[in-house]
This record gives sequence, C-alpha cells and structure tokens, in this order.
Amino acid sequence: MPKYIPSQPVVSLRSLIGSRRLSFPHYGIFSCARYGLLSYLDYVSQTRPGAPRRVLLPDYMCRDVGHALKQHGYEPRYYPLGADFEVSMQALEELETQTGRCQAIVLGHFYGRLSRNRQTVARWCREKDLPLIEDCVHLPFPHHAAFEEDRVAAKLYSLRKVYPVPHGGVLVVGDGRDAFADFLSRRVGAVATGNATEMLDWMVRQVAKKALLLMKMSYAPPRRDGGDELPPFNYAWRFLRRLLPGDSGDVATKRRRENYALYMQHRDILAQWGDVLALDAERDVPYMFVMFLKEHYDAGKAASRLEALGIPAGTGLALDPSVLAGLPRSHPYQRILTLPVHQDIDAEHIAHIMTVLGNPAIRAEVQASHPGQASAVCAQAIA
Ligand SMILES: Cc1ncc(COP(=O)(O)O)c(C=O)c1O
Repeated sequence: MPKYIPSQPVVSLRSLIGSRRLSFPHYGIFSCARYGLLSYLDYVSQTRPGAPRRVLLPDYMCRDVGHALKQHGYEPRYYPLGADFEVSMQALEELETQTGRCQAIVLGHFYGRLSRNRQTVARWCREKDLPLIEDCVHLPFPHHAAFEEDRVAAKLYSLRKVYPVPHGGVLVVGDGRDAFADFLSRRVGAVATGNATEMLDWMVRQVAKKALLLMKMSYAPPRRDGGDELPPFNYAWRFLRRLLPGDSGDVATKRRRENYALYMQHRDILAQWGDVLALDAERDVPYMFVMFLKEHYDAGKAASRLEALGIPAGTGLALDPSVLAGLPRSHPYQRILTLPVHQDIDAEHIAHIMTVLGNPAIRAEVQASHPGQASAVCAQAIA
C-alpha cells in the first residue's frame, strides 16, 4: 500500500519545448504570479489616468493576491462566482455600477476548469473598455490558455504551481506589448523580458534546482509489489527521466485527464462524499480533483485525516477575510476537498485513495460537529 503519494506537480520539459508553445513574444518573469499582476496593473494605471486604483477579482481568489494588491495601494473588489466557478454577469454588472471605473478585471480558471462564460465576460469588458487579465494560474503553461480566439490584455501563469520549478510567475502581454516591455525594463530592469529561448534557458536552470531539491526529499513512491518504500533517489530518477526527450510527449495534460477519468470510475464512492466539480475531458486540464463535500462533513477534518493517511488532500483556497466573512458556513467554497491528479500519480495511487474514501469509519470520523457545519476557514491555500 502506498505510504505517501507525492503531492508535487511535475511535468516533462518536452511539453514546454514545442515551438508553438513558446511563441509568445512578450512576457515578464517574476518570482510569483501576483507580482506579474501588480506590474501589469502599474502599467495599466499609467495608461488610464484618473481611474481609481480599483481591480475586480473573482471572490474565489487566493487572499494572497488581494493582500499584495492592497499593499501596493490597489483596492480589490470581489465579484461572485457560481457553483461551478462561473461568473455571474448580473452580479458583475451590479458591482461595476456600484464601484464605478476600475483599472482592470481578473478572470480565473479554477482547478483547470476553463471559465465557461469567458466569451461573455470578454465582450462585456470590451463594451466597458476594461482591460481583461486572464488568470491561468491553475492551468499548464501556456497552451491551455482559453482565449485563443479572443484577445485579452494579459495572461497570468504561476509556473511553480504546475512545473518542477521552485519559483516563477509569468505575465504574457497581449495589448500594448512594446509599451509594457518598455515600462517593465525601466521599472524592474533585472526582470527578464524577452524571447522564447531566454525563457527556456531560465526554465532549465529552474528545473535543475528543483531536481536537486527533490533528490533531498524523503518521500518515495510505492513499490509495485506492495513492499516497503523505495529509496528517495528512485523518485528523483523517475522525475529526471521525465525531462529527457523520448519520454511520453505531453505528459502533464494527458495524465491529468486520465487521472481525472480514473477517479470518475468510482462514482459510487465519490457520491458518498459529495459532488465532483465537472470537467470537460477535451478542453479542461485538471489541476486538482475537486469535490464539494456534503454539508455534514468538515472539509478541514477530512483533509487532515487523509493527509495523515498519506494522501495529499487539501481544502479550497484561502480566501480574502472580507469574502469569508460574508459566506454562509454551508457555502460550496467552505466544502471543497482537493485530491491529486498530477502526472506523477497513477492508477495504483488512485485505487488506494478510493479504498480509503470507501471506508465508512473514515467518513464517520470527519463529520462536522453539527450537521451543516463545514470547516469555517479554508485553511490550506494551494500555494
Ligand atoms: C487562482 C490564483 N491566482 C493567482 C495566484 C497567485 O499566484 P502566485 O502564488 O504565483 O503569486 C494564486 C495563488 O495561490 C491563485 O490560487
């Protein structure tokens, strides 16, 4: 039985090397995605003098992003999402009427589920002359960006969340490319902006660092024969092998989708826990397997119990306190349980997870103290 299922998402370099995928001429690399967002907003605010430093964010946005904005003098305003992370256009319209002019709006694709009404949002932004920033932080970089057919002002990626790199956020600029590149090099000369080759060099250096880090790590995958753990070195080797040409092509996307489908083969067990976030196998690329637990479970308790059993489960994102304050305890955001789908887990891991989830004693342990009382705070951000 697996002792520990690695939680780190790792990916083959091959999926980065395809020329089509590295053809973005203008981008900036930052330590985290939030700093890319901030730099872009600073640029936008120069081009929109007079507009208040106000930014519309989805209410299901990691609080660290709102915090960074506030620290830099921006006012985040949260717009609500539906149960499937859809944008409520009516609520967006009302918010915009209340708040007046803004600098920009951020649209997210949570857990790899492409925002279903993104075209409507894009149209709305064009009508309002509002720069649209697409938050692709939960998507592999960059070929699953949603707006091929539509122009967005900028796209935001957090490399460290999906790739084997310790740092890295990328901002890819659609509108005002040269002006932004100019702005960035004046403001933060040290930040790399440039072409695909430079970007690849940077990635390779980062991957090497991450590989060293992994070699030092103590967890290991299960042995196929069900015996004890393999030495950590084997995990590192498996990781390194993925980087070599010749290993299966688009590992990240394919395996993530396959893993999602493997979970879905156990619908009867999953249904005892709650509802699964529906994904489209053709278009979405799962970042996590997400369930909205039934109200009598406590998401925090469930995640820690599973974690103790070697399953890297998590709750939802850590939300801004102002958003949390207005959420009923039974709100779906309070009942999110995430399970791993990344390419380094396989059918054996998922079968093990299902054995644990299928155990009625475990379900009984993670009941909330009062029915309908889910965890009050989503403690674990996917950061
Ligand atoms: C949806 C989303 N967007 C943006 C960010 C910010 O990314 P980074 O941590 O690279 O700044 C996060 C962080 O957790 C996030 O969950």
